[in-house]
Amino acid sequence: MTDTNTPEAPKKTTLTVTIDGTAIEANPGELLIAAAERTGTFIPRFCWHPRMTEVGMCRMCLVEVSGPRGMSLQPACMQKCGEGMVVETKSDVVKKAQDGVLEFLLVNHPLDCPVCDKGGECPLQDQTLTFGPGESRFVEEKRHFEKPISISELVLLDRERCILCDRCTRFSKEVAGDPLIHFINRGNTTEVNTFPEDPFSSYFSGNVVQICPVGALTASPYRFAARPWDLDQVESTCTSCAVGCQTVIQSSGDQITRFQGVDSDPVNWGWLCDKGRFGYEAVSTSARIGGPLMRNAAGELQPATWIDSLDAVATRLRTYQPNEIGVIGGARLTNEDQYAWVKLAKSVLRTDNVDAQLADGLPAEAWIGLPAGTIDDLANASLVINLGPDIKEELPVLFLRLRDAVTQKKRTPFVEFSPLSNSLTSIANASLHYRPGEVAVLVEAVLDAVGGKTAERQISGLEAAAINDFAAVVAKATSSGKGSGKVVVLLGRASLADSTDSVVEAAGRLMAQLPNVVFLPTMRRANLRGALDLGMSPGLLPGRVTQADGRAWFASHWPSVPSNVGLDTVGMLESAAAGGLKALVLLGADLLADFPDRGLVERALAKVDYVVAVDSITNETNSQAHVVLGACGFAEKNGTTTNLEGRITTVAAKVSAPGTSRPDWMIATMLASQLGADLGFENVESITDEIGRVAPAHRGITSASFGERANVDGILIPIPVVADAVADDGVEDGVEAPVDADSSDGTVETAAEPVGPAVPTLLSIRPSSVPAVVPTPDSYSLRLVVSRTLYDNGVHTQSSPSLAKLAPRAGIRLNPGEAERHGLRDGDRVKVLSQTADLITSVITDDRVPRGVAHFLHNQPGVSATVLMDQVAMQSEGITKVRLETVGS
Ligand code: SF4
Ligand code: SF4
Ligand code: FES
Repeated sequence: MTDTNTPEAPKKTTLTVTIDGTAIEANPGELLIAAAERTGTFIPRFCWHPRMTEVGMCRMCLVEVSGPRGMSLQPACMQKCGEGMVVETKSDVVKKAQDGVLEFLLVNHPLDCPVCDKGGECPLQDQTLTFGPGESRFVEEKRHFEKPISISELVLLDRERCILCDRCTRFSKEVAGDPLIHFINRGNTTEVNTFPEDPFSSYFSGNVVQICPVGALTASPYRFAARPWDLDQVESTCTSCAVGCQTVIQSSGDQITRFQGVDSDPVNWGWLCDKGRFGYEAVSTSARIGGPLMRNAAGELQPATWIDSLDAVATRLRTYQPNEIGVIGGARLTNEDQYAWVKLAKSVLRTDNVDAQLADGLPAEAWIGLPAGTIDDLANASLVINLGPDIKEELPVLFLRLRDAVTQKKRTPFVEFSPLSNSLTSIANASLHYRPGEVAVLVEAVLDAVGGKTAERQISGLEAAAINDFAAVVAKATSSGKGSGKVVVLLGRASLADSTDSVVEAAGRLMAQLPNVVFLPTMRRANLRGALDLGMSPGLLPGRVTQADGRAWFASHWPSVPSNVGLDTVGMLESAAAGGLKALVLLGADLLADFPDRGLVERALAKVDYVVAVDSITNETNSQAHVVLGACGFAEKNGTTTNLEGRITTVAAKVSAPGTSRPDWMIATMLASQLGADLGFENVESITDEIGRVAPAHRGITSASFGERANVDGILIPIPVVADAVADDGVEDGVEAPVDADSSDGTVETAAEPVGPAVPTLLSIRPSSVPAVVPTPDSYSLRLVVSRTLYDNGVHTQSSPSLAKLAPRAGIRLNPGEAERHGLRDGDRVKVLSQTADLITSVITDDRVPRGVAHFLHNQPGVSATVLMDQVAMQSEGITKVRLETVGS
């Protein structure tokens, strides 16, 4: 019992454990195997993985641990550290146990090492050499199986190599939520396998290949491609989507051979999705553009020299007024490429018609101006609300982080608003599937119910009881005191066929009525966050500032700053189609495939005078350009990229770019030079440094910052400023050059260096709750929903042979009841008509699609729903409506 007069001794926050005679500090609850590794003692293991539940299957980690009855052998992966614990990892008893475990594991393990992909980087091989017996007493015949068997399009299984460690099975069930690989049979006949009718079709299948401690699971794209000792590697960031997973790029003979996940604690925990892991094949596609192309007299694109092509582009661009030039795209570029192009467009060409989005996201101000959350905020939230797309399809590893928070130890409450039932529905505590265009109305009803005004009638076709139940989950989570206290909203575009107004209004209502709301943008394109942060949007300038706020500051750093807010992509295409905008510069933008109104793109391209495409792979749009400037692709250039939470990490060159293709920043710099301007860039580092000096959100970052130990997981911007200087003239924040990115605590100390205008404040908005258009009910038509899927007909996927075949069946997805109402069955051909166009496709019945909705996956082979969309009608009506006509089976 505690004496109330005696102050309680403070709780000890660390434990002391003695490992092999050396005392170490361990954290309460920390596993012995982890504490030992953290302090420099490697305990061999096969089944333990720091990101999965410990199972104690293999016994390779046996060590001697002190206890009430003296020292005993314990599996270090199952043993939590205790105060005063004494551990021996190298004693004779431990050595004998390790010999025994390895001898038994090798009873059946084949001697495949010379032909096994894992040979040379195999934990079984390595640990046998380091900890195992010199020879085996077993001479019996080993097991034999048919080998290898294909358990999916991407993964091969050699069953006799398996040591039954349970890593692949645990990953699939616990981490990915795709329990498609299991142990089957019992005892000596136990094997890992899939069920015959159920292939291992998981978006995350490559992870089991990486974590398998032997060569039982191998990746078909890598099988026999290289030996580990031939590989050269560099750390980088995956740029197939905006999560920004950390990777190593491995190459052999100047060809990329493999990507492996790297464990970044705030981002990907070592996982990659299969698109990110196997998409490297696109780097060496035959459709790569190896340098500049210009049209010859016959109108054909032909190879040209850089000097001729840049001279031609500069000469032509000089003939236009600034507002007659538009720049679209840029989300595939590095931050340095983006900054160079923004500087060229906004200060040399003097046009503000610059947009990295293709009308398929949200307004830039909403993406970057709302209170920002991080992936870790999501993982520790009191409540997560999805107000965006199915992140398993668009941002797969973010889905893994969400799934972990929701289904594993934390049990974070998660609710979702979406127009369809999707991958998130199965893990959500509550789901409401709204009618397209009506999310704001539904959010308002939920918030009313949270505030005590319960729903009493159907809203958006949903029963009042469902809305009230959903509201009860929200109310309980926000008042429970559990989690960090933050409500994290996944904010994005669930359908490309709706206007964005309803989502922005819904975000505004959530922010106004729930406590501590932060937003995590669910943007699809890899470096869209970087593009917007660096001003690739009309009305914005680099460093997350508006043109109005940043004009004076940038006027003191750049040759000029646009005087008006320019057009976004819709505005530019409409202007081009009407003969206003004369020249288009496309930075990796395949408008014909991606822009959600194909008719508008076709009209614009037919009318516009001059199109320059800066790109690395041939596509339908750049094939129509007057000049194509071949750019380096992923793994061919150095620089930095920004993920969806605003974390800047590095991308690295590993292989040579084809032909004479150049990094985008260099193309911008050379073009500026042809235009008589000097952007001032000598190399990538000089651009990173200028961004860190000039862009307010990036202040304090230098090219050297990324080599610092504290920045191993990248730099989250804006870096907190701890000591803003007061300039001699007394103008607070009037400093130009930040110095000393103090990496020890991730903050920046600024030094007094008086210069002209004050550093502009960062963009920060509260979205208005002005009601968006509520679409009029119309029982004659269906509301169109167009959502993205991981494997589509995009250039990246289709240029990767291993991924190209994974695109799902194309067609219109209808609720079975809705199909029946129209007299249609699965597989029937149907004509789909909107007010702009029609197409004929197959019916796919799918009970995840609500009645009254016609669902297409965006950019599918042979079907492009973008022909059905009309941006003008979408903005005025809030939705896209379609009708169906039967055309026979
Ligand atoms: Fe472990 Fe590999 Fe066997 Fe799976 S296949 S249980 S990861 S050894
Ligand atoms: Fe790459 Fe995105 Fe997949 Fe991560 S989730 S591996 S960043 S595609
Ligand atoms: Fe501890 Fe396998 S690593 S039992």
